[in-house]
Amino acid sequence: MNVVLLGPPGAGKGTHGSALSRHLGLPHISTGDLLREAIAAGNSVGHRVESIVAEGRLVPDEIMAEMVRERFQAPDTSGGCILDGYPRTLEQARMLETILEELHRRLDRVLNLVVDDEEIVRRLSGRRVCEGCGALFHIDNAPPRRAGRCDTCGGELSRRTDDDPEVVRRRMKVYRKSTEPLVAFYRAQEILREIDAIGPVADVRERVLGAVA
Ligand code: AP5
Repeated sequence: MNVVLLGPPGAGKGTHGSALSRHLGLPHISTGDLLREAIAAGNSVGHRVESIVAEGRLVPDEIMAEMVRERFQAPDTSGGCILDGYPRTLEQARMLETILEELHRRLDRVLNLVVDDEEIVRRLSGRRVCEGCGALFHIDNAPPRRAGRCDTCGGELSRRTDDDPEVVRRRMKVYRKSTEPLVAFYRAQEILREIDAIGPVADVRERVLGAVA
């Protein structure tokens, strides 16, 4: 099963992508994580995308296509995957169709996580990420047991540089202009499911799991 998680910044794609991955036993592929890993590794892709990601703009479609195509070569994706943050433009959606067709696979479900702007700002201003294992926390909604430390690996928690309020505003604008049109694109293909992503994480998770049952 190949599933795409769609939604604005902070909608919960990472949170529910991990849960879905565990539930379905499929890899969770977050293009944001892949880009941050490339930046941390300091490789050539990392150098090309670092300022783009920091400013909340979209990385060029060709770079993303190469990255996703390469990730799909890994054997763990043969049974399907959970795509989080890709596609983000109509061009990327068409490219994903091509990549999947080449592999004789198809996209089964697109889950659109719906949240309002006020909630996005609240979530992103309180988000903390483990520098060690990438686990997600929120200072109010999902606080760590020990302040500033990851519950899973004890790593240090930090704020993502693109969670700065000005960058968040740009990311939301980019989402509305370039990514939101994908909702109509996938609705027309009758594979879209709308998920009310407001409320306790456990309740939203139930809705997400229900939508892929
Ligand atoms: P990416 O990392 O994909 O960022 P994003 O799409 O903006 O999404 P986020 O990771 O910010 O949020 P999320 O929806 O995963 O929410 P989360 O679960 O963390 O991309 C970063 C950048 O990389 C982009 O800006 C772009 O530059 C580049 N990029 C990536 N993919 C690209 C592509 N395909 N093409 C071009 N460029 C690309 O949750 C947020 C917080 O809310 C957490 O603290 C969580 O604990 C909390 N939370 C979650 N659910 C709930 C709930 N129900 N109630 C209360 N709190 C909750």
